Amino acid sequence: MRKIGNISFDHIPLCLSPMAGFSSVTFRGICHEMGADYSPTELVSARSIVYNGLGKSFRYMEIDPESEGLTCIQLFGNDPDDFTEAVKQISNDDLLSKVDIIDINMGCPVPKVVKTGAGSALLNDVALAGKIVSATVKAASEYGKPVTVKTRIGWDDRHMNGKDLVTEVCEKGAAAVCVHGRTRAAMYGGEADIEEIARIREAVPDTFFFANGDIKDGKSALRALEITKADGLMIGRGAVGDPWVFRRIRQEMNGNEFVMPSVGDRCDMLLRELEGTASRIGEVTAVKEMRSVMPHYIKGLRGSAKVKVELCRASTVSEVRGILERCRTDLI
Ligand SMILES: Cc1cc2nc3c(=O)[nH]c(=O)nc-3n(C[C@H](O)[C@H](O)[C@H](O)COP(=O)(O)O)c2cc1C
Repeated sequence: MRKIGNISFDHIPLCLSPMAGFSSVTFRGICHEMGADYSPTELVSARSIVYNGLGKSFRYMEIDPESEGLTCIQLFGNDPDDFTEAVKQISNDDLLSKVDIIDINMGCPVPKVVKTGAGSALLNDVALAGKIVSATVKAASEYGKPVTVKTRIGWDDRHMNGKDLVTEVCEKGAAAVCVHGRTRAAMYGGEADIEEIARIREAVPDTFFFANGDIKDGKSALRALEITKADGLMIGRGAVGDPWVFRRIRQEMNGNEFVMPSVGDRCDMLLRELEGTASRIGEVTAVKEMRSVMPHYIKGLRGSAKVKVELCRASTVSEVRGILERCRTDLI
């Protein structure tokens, strides 16, 4: 049985794939309740921690071991020393020191990140990626924390360097890797290339391996597991507004039918995520930030178009509650 450091699972772990703007501590707790084994935080700049301390990034790194179960903080950067220092600061903080896993982002395609040589830019500098992992493993092992890496299958169709990067980071001590089946050039378009994930998996048969990309139900989960022989799966966009996806996948993988949550359950869960987020970051910011999340909770329901517009105009929790109460019966 493969492990992530000392962490082992008696089942195939399903994790919430980190998503900037969506992976709040509240949402991660909800996903855990719905069956997600763990949920890395969204990416946080190691450099920013070095220069500004933990304060500025704390909101994005905040963990809640009680509601989340296993916890994982994701860092990005391009300087091994930044990772050493960031891990030290995290490990000396009262709350953050409780984190179970440190993950390194080597897949972010966003120009702002890539321009700094971080995220998926590391696919083009495998040696540096290895140095970053060596430094992070050295720092994190002092605190007994495994280091994992999340990346993509390659930079573009002509530079399928995911396999080289994964081989290198595993050699340098990564305890697990997650591979998203798209190149950096593909961003989030087209379909995830499961076959290429499988080829990369073959190169590191002894390392705990997560497959990622377009997994949203039992069928896509079983297909990804069968083709890639991965140890676990990460689910991103499929969980936005649908945290039940973890329970659904688990049940469907076991051949059981999943009964979709009712309209009332969906509205209640939306409110729960909103209220939880508001209690941590304040109502105004929470409602604003959840404008991109709320419509997903009622996606596909008849009558949702009008409600979505209203939700996106709301600026307080009670307004959202009022809209949902009024519209609940219109949604089918
Ligand atoms: C809005 C958004 C934000 C994301 N932010 C991150 C991030 O912070 N760190 C990361 O490793 N991946 C990030 N990703 C990539 C996802 O974790 C995942 O790899 C990708 O969406 C493919 O999986 P999916 O098809 O299940 O969504 C992000 C994706 C989206 C759509």
